[in-house]
Amino acid sequence: MEDKTQFRNFYGRVRGKTLRNSQKTYLADDLGAVQLRGVSRDENPERAKIDPKAIFGTGKPLWLEVGFGGGEHLVHMAARYPQIDIIGCEPFVNGVAMLLGKLRAAGVENLRLYPGDVRDVFDVLPDQVFAKAFLNYPDPWPKARHHKRRFVNQGYLTELARTMQPGAEFRIASDIPDYIRQSREEVPQAGFDRINDSPTAWDDWFSTRYEQKALREGRVPHYLTYRRAAA
Ligand SMILES: C[S@@+](CC[C@H](N)C(=O)[O-])C[C@H]1O[C@@H](n2cnc3c(N)ncnc32)[C@H](O)[C@@H]1O
Repeated sequence: MEDKTQFRNFYGRVRGKTLRNSQKTYLADDLGAVQLRGVSRDENPERAKIDPKAIFGTGKPLWLEVGFGGGEHLVHMAARYPQIDIIGCEPFVNGVAMLLGKLRAAGVENLRLYPGDVRDVFDVLPDQVFAKAFLNYPDPWPKARHHKRRFVNQGYLTELARTMQPGAEFRIASDIPDYIRQSREEVPQAGFDRINDSPTAWDDWFSTRYEQKALREGRVPHYLTYRRAAA
């Protein structure tokens, strides 16, 4: 059967400023050890499902962060919760390099990353693998004609819902009122119950680069918490 997913569009940036030499070194020396295997089309052209237990070999609860940016929240969660394993996805190579630098300093073992589109990860995972998922400051796509590119659309959300365990928590942070509006509309349709909708962050929140930028520019963060409904 033809693999239609190979033609899917990614509209975000994959490269930014020229990488510093130290960042090039992180990518060359460190990425291999923490990269999630069996996800890219080169490694898995058949798109065969991978065994999530084989990723870490621990059997611990598995969490996901979509679009980790510079990785500050991802590393914070990995360090704070050694009893879980966490996967982060990020196609922006500068962000991946930043995360690798932070990983050297943090020395956490329970984190793997996929330097690409989260949809590639969804493709190869079986149902009900994630016990928690984070979507922090997703790309806002402000123009109405681009709203369909937002993560909070059924295309992304039904795959997220499929890969989440019943009762698993899904957190969204955003400073864009229209993104919060669309999340309130779309996320429940994909099979999530709203638990909290608040201007106050979670107790274990770690403010990200994009949140810091939003605060500097006078925008107001908002936090949504959902729970995957029982199947
Ligand atoms: C506005 S930035 C926020 C980064 C970070 N979460 C923060 O709060 O600082 C959104 C990030 O999501 C990433 N992203 C967009 N689409 C994605 C996708 N399909 N899969 C994984 N990451 C994605 C972008 O590359 C970008 O780095």
